[in-house]
Amino acid sequence: MIKQSILSIFILLFCLCSCGHKEGEYHSLKEKIEEEGKKYHETDISSETYIGDIKTIEITEGEHTFLIPERKSQIKSYACTECHTKPLAALQNTKTGQKAHWDMQINHANENAMNCATCHNGKDMDNLNSLTGNTVDFNKSFKLCAQCHSPQFEDWKGGAHGKNIGGWAKPRAAMTCVNCHNPHEPQIAPKWPERFNTRKVKERE
Ligand code: HEC
Ligand code: HEC
Ligand code: HEC
Ligand code: HEC
Repeated sequence: MIKQSILSIFILLFCLCSCGHKEGEYHSLKEKIEEEGKKYHETDISSETYIGDIKTIEITEGEHTFLIPERKSQIKSYACTECHTKPLAALQNTKTGQKAHWDMQINHANENAMNCATCHNGKDMDNLNSLTGNTVDFNKSFKLCAQCHSPQFEDWKGGAHGKNIGGWAKPRAAMTCVNCHNPHEPQIAPKWPERFNTRKVKERE
């Protein structure tokens, strides 16, 4: 009788102890992810080495705070006010009709919806302007795109559209719209995969 009760206490103790999981065994997938993810949070992995010398600015859009590349130093004809010291009409050469930015043409939305003034404010060329006439810094040109392309903008904020510069480790740095899309001609040309098998092309012909 006594032996039996001692035995059942042992069994009970064994059950209680074995309830805690052994190493590598988890009660749920969520628990596994949380437990095994801990070591990544505790390490000093950082995306900073990948960002390298790229000059960045920090932006906060909704609940997302991340870095994007700075643009002004990359724009060849910035500062615009080096030439745009007078109103546009005074700069335009009406005699010859020659265009200063002859190499710049809009192949984006149709001309009813968009012209240069949709984004460039003739009174303040060093800044962009929104559809309602608000000033937008050249470093934050994504704000212009967001006006008409909100699905892509929403995706971009979370990282579903576009590309991170140094992966998902902190600090998160993501390319901005104009790193990939020319605002005047935003289409991305179709291309073959980088490691396209040229021998197969010959076979297909
Ligand atoms: C080297 C001088 C120079 C620089 C730098 C320059 N512009 Fe101009 N831009 C001109 C001149 C001259 C005109 C007027 C002639 C014309 O319409 O092309 C002009 C015209 C324009 C127009 C009107 C074009 C049209 O067809 O109505 C826009 C928009 C414009 N510039 C934007 C910019 C922006 C934005 C920058 C800076 C990122 C810039 N420019 C920098 C010389 C310059
Ligand atoms: C959809 C908005 C939009 C429209 C429309 C637009 N631009 Fe721009 N433009 C931009 C943005 C944004 C930049 C800066 C891009 C970057 O960061 O590289 C820019 C850059 C420029 C620059 C500087 C380019 C360089 O590399 O030096 C010039 C000049 C310019 N625009 C002129 C024009 C002219 C002229 C027109 C009309 C024919 C025009 N833009 C129409 C958004 C626009
Ligand atoms: C005023 C509204 C407006 C703004 C601002 C604007 N877009 Fe667009 N964009 C359009 C419209 C309209 C189309 C569709 C044109 C079509 O389907 O023919 C378009 C087309 C596009 C496309 C698709 C081209 C294709 O056919 O594959 C891209 C990419 C794009 N825009 C990127 C941008 C970026 C980047 C910016 C910011 C620099 C921007 N847009 C700003 C209105 C806008
Ligand atoms: C890392 C490069 C990259 C960045 C950054 C980027 N895009 Fe794109 N975008 C692409 C590619 C690639 C496509 C697909 C083109 C295709 O399928 O033909 C695309 C497609 C689009 C299209 C066409 C419709 C679609 O979804 O296929 C729009 C509009 C667009 N992008 C807007 C934006 C806007 C607005 C931003 C910034 C908020 C942005 N993109 C940032 C690379 C980029």
